Amino acid sequence: MLAGILSAARRNNPQMGITGALVCRADLYLQLIEGPVDAIDALYARICEDDRHANIELLLTEGMGERLFPNWAMLDDEAPSLFWSAADVATGALEAASPDELLAPFIRLSAAHPGG
Ligand SMILES: Cc1cc2nc3c(=O)[nH]c(=O)nc-3n(C[C@H](O)[C@H](O)[C@H](O)COP(=O)(O)O)c2cc1C
Repeated sequence: MLAGILSAARRNNPQMGITGALVCRADLYLQLIEGPVDAIDALYARICEDDRHANIELLLTEGMGERLFPNWAMLDDEAPSLFWSAADVATGALEAASPDELLAPFIRLSAAHPGG
């Protein structure tokens, strides 16, 4: 399933000017999407209709100066150093997290891919 999602992302995102990262774990997808607002809105609407996931939530919208993943149509990571356990996620840790806390795993992931 992840392979199918990533292949769509890598096929479509470059032409929309979108980059980002998708952290995939048994209990969640956590995705950072960067690019022009209109392109992000259109992509997000499409992703929301995708039945390969459920309980979709928009956690943070932020204007950012520089992209974290300028050279990745969609970087994927299956062994992220997320500090939230599955139990934390199930009891609302993501909704309670601050913007800095939500971005932290992506900043670490970006740092682990120099030039990325
Ligand atoms: C968690 C998740 C993340 C996704 N991320 C992207 C993405 O970054 N770009 C993309 O084009 N499709 C993404 N998709 C797939 C879209 O929902 C949709 O299936 C796809 O864009 C359709 O593209 P196609 O018409 O070229 O097959 C994602 C789906 C899921 C479940």
